[in-house]
Amino acid sequence: MSKKGTFFVVGVGPGDPELMTLKAARILEKCPAWLAPAARVDGESTALTIVKGAVQWEKKNILIHHFPMKKVPTGKKPDAEIQEAWNKAAQWVNEQLEQGVDVALPTLGDPAIYCTGFYVYKTLLAAHPDVKVEIIPGISAIGATAAAAKTPLCLGDDELVVIPAVFENGKLRKTLEQFNSLVFMKVYKSMDRLVPLLKEMDLLEKAVLVERTSMGEEQVHHDVESVLGRELHYFSTLIVRR
Ligand SMILES: C[S@@+](CC[C@H](N)C(=O)[O-])C[C@H]1O[C@@H](n2cnc3c(N)ncnc32)[C@H](O)[C@@H]1O
Repeated sequence: MSKKGTFFVVGVGPGDPELMTLKAARILEKCPAWLAPAARVDGESTALTIVKGAVQWEKKNILIHHFPMKKVPTGKKPDAEIQEAWNKAAQWVNEQLEQGVDVALPTLGDPAIYCTGFYVYKTLLAAHPDVKVEIIPGISAIGATAAAAKTPLCLGDDELVVIPAVFENGKLRKTLEQFNSLVFMKVYKSMDRLVPLLKEMDLLEKAVLVERTSMGEEQVHHDVESVLGRELHYFSTLIVRR
C-alpha cells in the first residue's frame, strides 16, 4: 500500500502573487492536487487566481470547490449546507491522500484568520484521525491593509483587536470604546452603520478603509465618509487607530 499523502492548508497572501511566501510557492509546486475554495457556485477562486500568478498550474489536478458564504457561529453547529460543503471537500481530499497524493488547499491571506481551510482540516481530522496536515502561514490582509494605508497597527502600549464588522452596533461601539487599535474585516456591508458610529465617537479621522489591498485597483480611503452609499468590494478592511 502506498504511503498516505499530506494535506497542506497554504496561505497565499492578500492578492499580489509577489506576497506569497517562498514556502507557499514550493508546497503548491510539489502538490499534484489542489482544492481551490470558491465563494460562488461555478465561481472563480480568488486564492487560485493568486497562485496562478506565481506557480505552474497547468498540470495540476484542481478541484474548484464552492463553500457557501454563510456565517459560522463559533462553537455552534454550522448550517447544513456549509457542513455538506466541508464534508465533500474533506472526502475529495481524503481520496487523494489515500492514493498517496499530497493535496494543497490555497487560501487567501493567512489560514489562521477566518479561513475555510481550517474547517476542512477539522472535518478531515474527525473522520480520519491519522491524517497528516501542515498549515503554511501567509501574509494576512490585516498586515497588507496596514501597509497600504502606511499605518502601524500597534506600537508601545496599544492593544489590537480584530473584529468582523457584522456584529450589531452595540457590540461595535463597545469594542471601539475598549480598544485603541481595531481592524474591521468583512466590512463591505457595514460601512453605512460604522461611519455614523465613528462620527459620533469622533473617530472619523482615525479611520482608514482599504479596498482590494494589493490586488490591483487598490483604493485607500482616508475619508471614510466618502464611501457612504457606495457598493464596496468584499475585499475591504477598515483600520481605526487612536
Ligand atoms: C474570510 S476573511 C479572510 C481573511 C484572510 N484569511 C486573511 O488572512 O486576510 C475575508 C475578509 O478579509 C479581508 N480581506 C481579504 N483580502 C483582502 C484584500 N486584498 N484587501 C482588503 N481586505 C481583504 C476583507 O475584510 C474580507 O471581507
